[in-house]
Amino acid sequence: MRYGYFDDAAREYVITTPETPYPWINYLGSERFFGIISNTAGGYCFYRDARLRRVLRYRYNNIPADSNGRYFYIKDGEDIWNPGYKPSRTPLDFYECRHGMGYTRITGSKNGLRAEQLAFVPLGLNAEVHQLRLTNESQQEKAISLFSYAEFCLWNAQDDMLNFQRNFNTGEVEVEGSVIYHKTEYRERRNHYAFFSVNSPVDGFDTDLESFAGLYEGLQKPAAVTAGKSRGSMASGWQPIGSHQIDLKLAPGETRACTFMIGYVELPEEEKFSSPGIINKTPALSMISAMQTDGQVLKALDDLKAYWSGLLNTYSLSCGDEKLTRMVNIWNPYQCMITFNMSRSASLFESGIGRGLGFRDSSQDLLGFVHQAPDRARERILDIAATQFRDGGCYHQFQPLTKKGNNEIGGGFNDDPLWLIAGTAAYLKETGDFEILDEQVPYDTNPADTGTLMEHLEASFDHVISNKGPHGLPLIGRADWNDCLNLNCYSKHPDESFQTYENPEGPDPRVAESVLIAGMMVAIGPDLAAIQSLRGETEAAQYTREHIALMRQAVLDHGWDGDWFLRAYDAAGRKIGSHEDTEGQIFIESQGFCVMAGIGLEDGKAAKALQSVASRLETEHGIVLHQPAYQSYRLNLGEISSYPPGYKENAGIFCHNNPWIMAAETMLGHGDRAFSLYKKTAPAFREDMSDLHKMEPYVYAQMIAGKDAPRFGQAKNSWLTGAAAWNYYVITQNILGVKPDYMGLRIDPCIPEDWREYTVRRAFRKAVYNIHVSNETRACRGVKSITVDGQRIEGTLLPLFNDGEHRVEVVL
Ligand code: GLC
Ligand code: GLC
Repeated sequence: MRYGYFDDAAREYVITTPETPYPWINYLGSERFFGIISNTAGGYCFYRDARLRRVLRYRYNNIPADSNGRYFYIKDGEDIWNPGYKPSRTPLDFYECRHGMGYTRITGSKNGLRAEQLAFVPLGLNAEVHQLRLTNESQQEKAISLFSYAEFCLWNAQDDMLNFQRNFNTGEVEVEGSVIYHKTEYRERRNHYAFFSVNSPVDGFDTDLESFAGLYEGLQKPAAVTAGKSRGSMASGWQPIGSHQIDLKLAPGETRACTFMIGYVELPEEEKFSSPGIINKTPALSMISAMQTDGQVLKALDDLKAYWSGLLNTYSLSCGDEKLTRMVNIWNPYQCMITFNMSRSASLFESGIGRGLGFRDSSQDLLGFVHQAPDRARERILDIAATQFRDGGCYHQFQPLTKKGNNEIGGGFNDDPLWLIAGTAAYLKETGDFEILDEQVPYDTNPADTGTLMEHLEASFDHVISNKGPHGLPLIGRADWNDCLNLNCYSKHPDESFQTYENPEGPDPRVAESVLIAGMMVAIGPDLAAIQSLRGETEAAQYTREHIALMRQAVLDHGWDGDWFLRAYDAAGRKIGSHEDTEGQIFIESQGFCVMAGIGLEDGKAAKALQSVASRLETEHGIVLHQPAYQSYRLNLGEISSYPPGYKENAGIFCHNNPWIMAAETMLGHGDRAFSLYKKTAPAFREDMSDLHKMEPYVYAQMIAGKDAPRFGQAKNSWLTGAAAWNYYVITQNILGVKPDYMGLRIDPCIPEDWREYTVRRAFRKAVYNIHVSNETRACRGVKSITVDGQRIEGTLLPLFNDGEHRVEVVL
């Protein structure tokens, strides 16, 4: 069943019932101020860091789910309702939520009154705008009261939900005119405050949760709203909120708009106060004045839409498949950008306090957004590289505010270094900016100890070479891409972390090896060699190639199980991912990367490995991580065997590495296979089964429950996942075949036989290419001819131009 529909012309998903199978969210903000907003206006916002600068409070694990947000109550006689249905849950005569690119518009109507809540973060402002438009669609005059509501977080989201003995004493606010200022801890070391404003006079306000909601009533029927009268409360400790009351009379047909703003202000130490204890409100008032009129709000929304068009128009597809088109042109690149902005911090599955930016995650995110925002990709690459150690190892995570490596988790995830090469290569192919390689970048964020980015990449590669195990394969360390395959952990106590625990009586970490990292080295290493060659470093390139060849041989000698690639060797040197075991006989990861690396293409191993994936791992909802699932905990494997069968890393379907198999299939020219796999996990293709899928039908989820799970086919952890970047990368490059390369754009599609033609408009470097691909002979792969502006060219690399639009005709 469906709960809405795509409006592609508006680039919106339109939700037609508030009771979706799970709260379906969107993201607000594109620079420094961000928020998440659900289809019932739940969610919260923060400035840059969801842990340290949380502006609004959110209660994860609440009952019902998602029950705090920026709410507007309408009191119309005895009726109390919200345009987004929650929290009152008063039935509406009409409801609609439109999630667009960086904005959300929720409309509800009841008793002839229509209320529209438009939410977005204007470019250049550290604030959310919530514009409420009320229209009297009845024949009578309406006299109503509008109440706003938002609850402030005491900044550090972690302390905010733990340290009540302190928190209930610190809350402070100021109210001046129609603006409520939240200034908890401003008296001491904080130099930031938040505000909640409205651009009209108010008839009342509240700033204390208990006074507004009542201690026993809650948000469903807040006491002040029921009474129709704000209390004028001033928060003093306990739980500070912002709520305005505005009484309105609307003639039949009349529309009134009120613009609310929730903003963040940071001041230099010496300008914090305007008089003792009183905050300096000048910057807040200037932000508020930027959104005073309807015209200003409209213009800001138009600017935001233009900003997103600019990002999304870099690559646009026209073809006969509506679902594919909306994935490629709208939702997948949008999700890539959001994932880049947020990394894995704030969603309904990431609390915003748990982890910072992941080294591996951020490097892979680059693959999906580099063409949209190359400058930001450049900055991100340098930030990531700065958390690398001299020996090429890396911090697994780093904090966005400080950009420092996260000591709690440390390093030792031995796939991490290679992802830096992959991300940088993607940036170089997109931009041709080889100068970045000569930038001096710190090791371990120590400005006194630096090397060029090129030296960092070489350190990455050398880290693999100098950390090999008994079979000449890379040591896995704490884990590789699969965070839960913890071969050196040997944890027996539930309070130990699978990722960081090292059993003192446990194994020698110089034994457990990863065939995935081996495949990655052979797949990604050639990019390092190519970069070295292009820089004229012939000897270095030669060295790189020799080591790739050694690794390829090690995989062939020790990484093949007979019908598929092994996954790993455990700390006792036993095979993981082998038919010799009873469970976990075959894994997806090594099949994907080894074939992408081209290992076994000549002798049929690659084809065999993919056949094994198809027969043993593929399901109607995508490819599971491994089979058979682990039925019980295995000390030598760690977290992977801790999950019930079918969930997460224990044989769930990871939308992240399904595309590795699609890419592998294109290596063999199997366009039909690649695209049929694509459709299994791509959200727009799953829209009709939203009941089962449960997550938003417009974005990828990290995982879909595998066939061993009671809820097979149900997705979890939507939005912030490497699935966005990898699926985007594979559909646009491996399947549609428009591939940035160091010296230009390369054309090499691998499509289903029955596709007749399609067009891709691609902005690349200084020019725009209109690429028309025709497939009259029903080939899957193989370019027969290419003409550029009417001239036949040799090969598949399009020439670079300094400007203009260029017509490219490709015949397969
Ligand atoms: C609370 C805390 C304690 C602290 C005291 C004074 O009682 O539990 O740790 O020392 O407050 O701040
Ligand atoms: C999560 C992590 C990612 C990891 C994956 C598989 O998505 O963010 O780094 O690769 O899980 O364990």
